Amino acid sequence: MEGVILDMSVSIPHYFVSHEALAEARGVAVGKYKIGLGCHSMAVCGQGEDVVTLAAEAAWKLLEKNAGSREKIGLCIVGTESGVDHSKPISSYLHSLLELPSSCRIFEIKHACYSGTAALQMARNWSLQNPDELALIVMTDIARYERHSPGESTQGGGAVALLIGHSDDDDYFLELSAKSGIHAMDVHDFWRPNYLSSALVKGKYSIQCYLDGLVAAYDDYVRRSGDNEEVDYLAFHVPFPSMARKAHNRLLKHQGIEDEEVIFEDFKERVEPALWANRIIGNIYSGSLYLMLGGLCELKGNELSDKKIALFSYGSGSCSEYFTGTFGQRIPQLGLRQLLDSRIEIDVTEYERLHDASLLAERDGSYNEELDLIPRPFVFLGVREHERIYRRNEAFFKENLESYETLSNELNAATIQLH
Ligand code: HMG
Repeated sequence: MEGVILDMSVSIPHYFVSHEALAEARGVAVGKYKIGLGCHSMAVCGQGEDVVTLAAEAAWKLLEKNAGSREKIGLCIVGTESGVDHSKPISSYLHSLLELPSSCRIFEIKHACYSGTAALQMARNWSLQNPDELALIVMTDIARYERHSPGESTQGGGAVALLIGHSDDDDYFLELSAKSGIHAMDVHDFWRPNYLSSALVKGKYSIQCYLDGLVAAYDDYVRRSGDNEEVDYLAFHVPFPSMARKAHNRLLKHQGIEDEEVIFEDFKERVEPALWANRIIGNIYSGSLYLMLGGLCELKGNELSDKKIALFSYGSGSCSEYFTGTFGQRIPQLGLRQLLDSRIEIDVTEYERLHDASLLAERDGSYNEELDLIPRPFVFLGVREHERIYRRNEAFFKENLESYETLSNELNAATIQLH
């Protein structure tokens, strides 16, 4: 079977701020963030972390988990809306940091939060023509809104890496449906002009565009595939967790179910369990849908084999895609809980400092050799003579994957000394 997802991995920034702290600092009732939006905390990038290091870390873990995969990568697509250059793609940095083969097609694509799904579908088709090779898809983003804006509480960051290829038996993670339902429209619901570092958004309108895209893409899926069977789970793009509740509610009503109690019970069973990681990481834009999928894997493990899931991807601007997947026998172990437990909590003052520092790090002359001391697998040292400089931390590569997770706490403690 060609074009199946064989495995996945996730990386997240090493700091977070709680929504209790943010609510207090912004003079907002904490219930609005925690109950209204469903957000409990959000990831914040520290010094030396950016979208390239997040992408490299997720992809590196994936290649380590799959012995012999690196040499077979013939395609590497990065999906992002946090591009670091108008011309040079993030995939070219990954090419050297991960030591990918030279005979490998590399590029970056953009369509807001939809880019990861677009990359995944391209990789599936490519896999049909190249059954002996593997495709590496990396979605990486840092969600950034203006401070004090309504969007501020829905920030976050992280990367998801997927390995796509061929499987002779059922030793794979997810087989996607042959058909997808699509809906595209030209809207200004959320966008980031080239001259701004934070996104602009028409909040309520963006929710409406998302929900309209969902039902239109679902109808298109049923029309194209003839499949309207019930699925075991539903995963959605998650800009904030309550959006998944709104999406589920709208979809079930569209399917003819009106009873709110029935909808609520169904949400608790088929959607809610998978949302836990999104609640404490925040919006990771292109990877958000796949983070929800990862949360489900972490929770249910091998119970998922042979189960069917519906997936809804939304990218502002906009493009919506509804498709389904059937789980194989290889449910990924992501180590998400260990990763989350090893994060460092910061207060709002430190979050604001890091927010500003990450913008300064984008400027020419920001190169700082001292950041090389940060004990992480990949470090962004800053910009020197208009070139971004990254360091692959060789010490890290002497450790195996298991010890990487257990080392995290000590490393975090060492990192904080740098401030
Ligand atoms: P807001 O307008 O300030 O919030 O910002 P609100 O007043 O609508 O309140 C939010 C919810 O909290 C409401 O619940 C309130 O009732 C409730 P709802 O009516 O929606 O069910 N609430 C409370 N609950 C309990 N206790 C309280 C309390 N107070 C209020 N005390 C908004 C919300 C989402 C608009 C804002 O955060 C925002 O602009 N976010 C960014 C945009 C966004 O995420 N849009 C989602 C769809 S577009 C998308 O998903 C694409 C995207 O990911 C980008 C891409 O594609 O690249 C964003």
